[in-house]
Amino acid sequence: MTTGEFSPNNISAKPINVEASRILKDASVASYETAKQAGGVSTFEIFNKKVITITNADLASLIQYDNEEYFGRSEAQKHILQGVVGKSILTQDGAAWKSLKGSCNNSLSRNNIEKYHQGTQLGLDSALKIQEKQEEEASLILKRYNFESIFVQTTTKVFLNADLTAAESAKLHNAYVELAALSANYIKYPVLMLMPSWMPHPTNIRMRLKSNTIDHVLKPIIKKAISKDTKTASLLRDMDEEVIREKRCPLKGKEHFSLLKSLYIAGIKTSAVTLEWIMMYLSEYPEYWSQLSTECLELYGTDYPDVENQADPECLGNIINETMRLSPTAPLIARKVINDCTVAGVKMKKKDIILISVYGIHRSPEYWENPEDFIPSRFSKPHNPKAYLPFQLGPHTCPGQHLARRMIATVLIRLAQFYDLEPIQGKSFEYEGNVVSVPKHAQNFRFVKRK
Ligand code: HEM
Repeated sequence: MTTGEFSPNNISAKPINVEASRILKDASVASYETAKQAGGVSTFEIFNKKVITITNADLASLIQYDNEEYFGRSEAQKHILQGVVGKSILTQDGAAWKSLKGSCNNSLSRNNIEKYHQGTQLGLDSALKIQEKQEEEASLILKRYNFESIFVQTTTKVFLNADLTAAESAKLHNAYVELAALSANYIKYPVLMLMPSWMPHPTNIRMRLKSNTIDHVLKPIIKKAISKDTKTASLLRDMDEEVIREKRCPLKGKEHFSLLKSLYIAGIKTSAVTLEWIMMYLSEYPEYWSQLSTECLELYGTDYPDVENQADPECLGNIINETMRLSPTAPLIARKVINDCTVAGVKMKKKDIILISVYGIHRSPEYWENPEDFIPSRFSKPHNPKAYLPFQLGPHTCPGQHLARRMIATVLIRLAQFYDLEPIQGKSFEYEGNVVSVPKHAQNFRFVKRK
């Protein structure tokens, strides 16, 4: 991108009055509302910094597809994650990020679909076995914690080719849940972000302790996974080999932890919440659960699908896509301007903050017909690709999207083959959270085994 040369210069930003406290309290809702009120792009000042909020898909796309020269990671994201994972793909910019991103993209590619599927089957079986034991035989109740623990098991199987014991899984899972809760403190009390992560503040200390718990559980498993003596392959070993093959700097000691923790952090909560949102919509619209069950049984009977040779039922992809449109797990993309530029007529200065409202673009009548309605079949027809960004677009797009989609699809197919999903009365689709948006009121989803 060249400064001031973006054409056509047809987008204008409108100044909006907004209280700083409003943004700090709920940046994802506030950025949606301000950009919508401004007709696509709003600007306002907060603590002497200009904030630009965006629901215009063209502008959002130009920013996402741009290189690293003009836009960088937000300081908040870097600061919070640095304390948890140290130097890794989520916290680096420039050459270090590019190198790790290359390895993640190659190792987490769509070509590994069978591996993700196998890992998910095994992880799911062991997660459901633990769960079913605790329930009456004929039914299964899945809560937020269960969705997360399914993905702790499946992700570990996929990345490390290891089966966690129930105790290891619980330890790892609880440490992640607590880390996520502690990270929320930084958003709630932004003054914490002014403090380097090594400062002995109680939040920093607790972050470090939880992070150590994760290292402790993973250390022996990682060692085994990357050992040349281990016969069976794992994605972490693939990545290791890929890094050496491509003559990138090999991952050493702690860097394995950092990369793996980044992948767990980026992958488990997001996938689990997406599945939770899907269940919310499916229990609200039971006709789609019936359609999914019928089509899965027709295609696979009660066998596991052969994903290399069989396509998923069309309605499955549509349900996943439509859920991520209406309730994107990452509702907000935050960026910092690192060099002055003018993008499609919108002036941006170094240090300005950019908040792209994914939620707003996904619900804009400019890009979607009846945007507030749950209509999975809309994804059988083409849509404006700039207006659909649940995994973000451009070079920073999520490298785990194929894995996430496969894990979610395999879990849904398996449940739809055997269980009826009971409807839940009176639930709300309100969400909370800026980094990952979760249903404000968690539900217990009850599945009844078919005779
Ligand atoms: C449904 C589940 C998922 C959703 C909705 C999701 C969404 C996203 C989004 C929106 C970003 C861009 C964030 C930003 O730069 O502001 C992202 C980045 C990332 N995601 Fe995912 N993700 C999911 C699952 C996963 C999984 C399963 C993994 C890996 C196992 C993963 C690994 C990553 C990594 C490493 C990045 C950073 C990429 C970079 O900085 O270039 N994600 N994801």
